[in-house]
Amino acid sequence: MKGESTIPNAPVIGVFDSGVGGLTVAKELKRWLPNVPLIYFGDTARTPYGTKAPSTIVEFAKEDTEFLLEHGANIIVVACHSAASTAKEALRAQFQYPIFEVVTPSVEVAARVTRNGRIGVIGTRATVESNVYARELEKLSPNIVVIGQPCPLLVPLVEEGWLDRRETKMILKKYLHPLRLQNIDTLVLGCTHYPMLKPLIQKKMGKRVRIVDPSEEVARMVKAYIDSKGLLRTHPSPSVKDTYYFSDLGVVTQEVIRRFIREPIEVRKASP
Ligand code: DGL
Repeated sequence: MKGESTIPNAPVIGVFDSGVGGLTVAKELKRWLPNVPLIYFGDTARTPYGTKAPSTIVEFAKEDTEFLLEHGANIIVVACHSAASTAKEALRAQFQYPIFEVVTPSVEVAARVTRNGRIGVIGTRATVESNVYARELEKLSPNIVVIGQPCPLLVPLVEEGWLDRRETKMILKKYLHPLRLQNIDTLVLGCTHYPMLKPLIQKKMGKRVRIVDPSEEVARMVKAYIDSKGLLRTHPSPSVKDTYYFSDLGVVTQEVIRRFIREPIEVRKASP
């Protein structure tokens, strides 16, 4: 991995997302690596990224990464799928630090678990239109077929907390129907918000479809990396506290944060 020259001896994980959704990834990282300090940046002032042009997303992703490095992070995790699918190469080319993102581990897991080679990917328009899953899965196995389905209405529904509403079920049914017709056996949740809808999605797709949750897969990958460097901490870091920065911290943002993460977290307002 590029960035081997700057392997940290006291890892501090910096996670960024377009907003609050990346808290699903932060939560998994804390579950797998409870003693490694974490700095989060959610770009709530400029969210959503999933509707923006690729060049804008790349520019924002670079600024978000710089922000995290300036705040002491030395391992970067791109939690936002729209940013990961559009900007991961640009970030790796620019920054000499280990950069993890949600796409790579999901591609590996999807390729490993599919039996019929038909994989569905749901995400924002930016993620689905980037075609990153088809490109990368094809490299692993030319016989794999990827069927992408943008689901733009799911982000606002999740942020409103409409996780079990009739309207959400109807919209999900509409989005997932084409994937059901395509006989996929694996479905990648290619957006930060979708793990919140996992039980509903599993129910709509049926038990035979294996759901890949990138928030879990990337946390596993980061843990394996830190472990391989002999840097897994057995005690909490005494010097660095977990901090969650957001570029907007208005009343609505604070409410959405509470919907995503139940534990008390230290939040601060800051911008790149
Ligand atoms: N975090 C974004 C993603 O995972 C979803 C919200 C947005 O469009 O910014 O793609």
